[in-house]
Amino acid sequence: MSAQATTVVPTAVPEQLLDRFGRTVRDLRVSVTDRCNLRCTYCMPAHGLAWLPGPQLLTVAEIARLARLAVERLGVERIRLTGGEPLLRRDLEQIVAALSALRTRAGAKPDIGLTTNGLGLDKRAPGLRAAGLDRVNVSIDALDPRQYAALTRRDRLDDVLRGVAGAQAAGLAPIKVNAVAVPEGLEERAPQLAAECLRRGWQLRFIEHMPLGPRGTWKANDVVGAEQVLAVLRRAGFALTPVGRPDRRPAALWEVAAGTGPDGADYPAGRVGVIASVTAPFCADCDRTRLTADGRLLTCLFSAAETDLRGPMRAGADDEELLRIWADSAWHKPRAHGMNDPRSPSEFTAPARTMSAIGG
Ligand code: 5AD
Ligand code: SF4
Repeated sequence: MSAQATTVVPTAVPEQLLDRFGRTVRDLRVSVTDRCNLRCTYCMPAHGLAWLPGPQLLTVAEIARLARLAVERLGVERIRLTGGEPLLRRDLEQIVAALSALRTRAGAKPDIGLTTNGLGLDKRAPGLRAAGLDRVNVSIDALDPRQYAALTRRDRLDDVLRGVAGAQAAGLAPIKVNAVAVPEGLEERAPQLAAECLRRGWQLRFIEHMPLGPRGTWKANDVVGAEQVLAVLRRAGFALTPVGRPDRRPAALWEVAAGTGPDGADYPAGRVGVIASVTAPFCADCDRTRLTADGRLLTCLFSAAETDLRGPMRAGADDEELLRIWADSAWHKPRAHGMNDPRSPSEFTAPARTMSAIGG
């Protein structure tokens, strides 16, 4: 054999995050902390979790470097900061500023969103907006203070509402509200949330309960599906017309006619959404990937496999090596999560990490 034939041909540097089923990643979710100041029953045990020690968290510079690779080299167009509760990071403004300095292949600033529980958002919103944050999704499961406290184990509804008002005043728009469709109090919670969000111009989305909380807190048979959420709203007098899933985004939307809410006050026409991750999964359209607070890649919320980027990065890997690790991990994204597999609904095993440790 000649020397020529044994020459190693360098593997091409990847230019996108593609998987075996033809999906391409455009949306990166970066968890910036696993800590939280609420204890939502569907997410965490009352005593919290064993938080990651500080040195294990990615630094601002590390997040900025990985996001630069994603946006400038791998075709990512949108970044969402999640947690835990992202506002618990005091350097969140710096993270946002670093992300907004990036430019997509089309030359645009990436779209930057934040998923938060809203606590303290009023104080941070102007600074985050100035740093380049575009939008916020706020988790509000109930508008009755007692129900809110029962679900989150903290009596903080007033603080959250002040936070959202502050976000609105700072120009963060549109404001989306996430409510998890657990059965507790849903007959009351859902109509109250729908009416109030329509009045305030917030886009409400109910999210089907996924097995991502403490073990034993999720049973397939207890999942309140999209159809049941809509039935609750219809019983409360809401007139709903399906819109579908615009742009194949996760939320299916319904047009709501103007009406009168459970409190006797009117609400204007608008829309309400349901994210039917369990009963109508959108895996085939999924364009997301996730980076955990400690620098691991997860191709899916339900993926058992994690790929470490922090280790190689701290060991001195160059950009090309990180790009190859990332693209290789993306390639193995599972086809679907299998939560509603009719053959084994009760056997579905939840991932090792819970939602707050993955990033919502
Ligand atoms: N199922 C569905 N949604 C959940 N969230 C947290 N845990 C779960 C779960 N097990 C929601 C939060 C937040 C978003 C990031 O995900 O309420 O709105
Ligand atoms: Fe915190 Fe969000 Fe989990 Fe609630 S769901 S405990 S707000 S991370």
